[in-house]
Amino acid sequence: MKISLSRKASVLVLLFVFAVSLTSTARAEQNPAPGQAAFKSSCSLCHGPDGAGHTPTGKSLQIPDLRSADVQKHTDDEMADSISKGRPGRMPAFGTKMNNEQIQTLVKYIRMLAQDNKAAGGR
Ligand code: HEC
Repeated sequence: MKISLSRKASVLVLLFVFAVSLTSTARAEQNPAPGQAAFKSSCSLCHGPDGAGHTPTGKSLQIPDLRSADVQKHTDDEMADSISKGRPGRMPAFGTKMNNEQIQTLVKYIRMLAQDNKAAGGR
């Protein structure tokens, strides 16, 4: 009797841990970083989900790693300008599809990608 009771208890504990881990994953999915969805849908085809540009398109266009010092040295305004105007024949202009706020959010998202990469030991 004693044994089956403690077994029941441990099953309950397991269920509880499982439920908690489920809800925390669900929460992470509900609250992605601002700009992530837009970056995934509009930019990752060329720049890759992490901004590194390791995509077939990225390689053929020789896109710079958005996390690199060369790109990160630009001011927020310069980066927003690049996104808004694009690059003739290389990157579409997004200024007609996105408002200023959405573009600024993408700039912050690109900064975050660079920070995450640094934290992970990248350059
Ligand atoms: C069709 C492919 C393509 C798409 C889609 C695209 N880019 Fe680009 N992007 C490029 C290329 C190619 C360059 C490099 C331009 C150059 O070197 O002249 C670039 C450059 C940039 C730069 C500037 C890098 C620098 O050196 O100043 C930023 C910032 C950037 N992209 C952000 C974005 C964002 C944000 C999106 C989505 C809203 C996006 N790109 C979508 C191809 C793309």
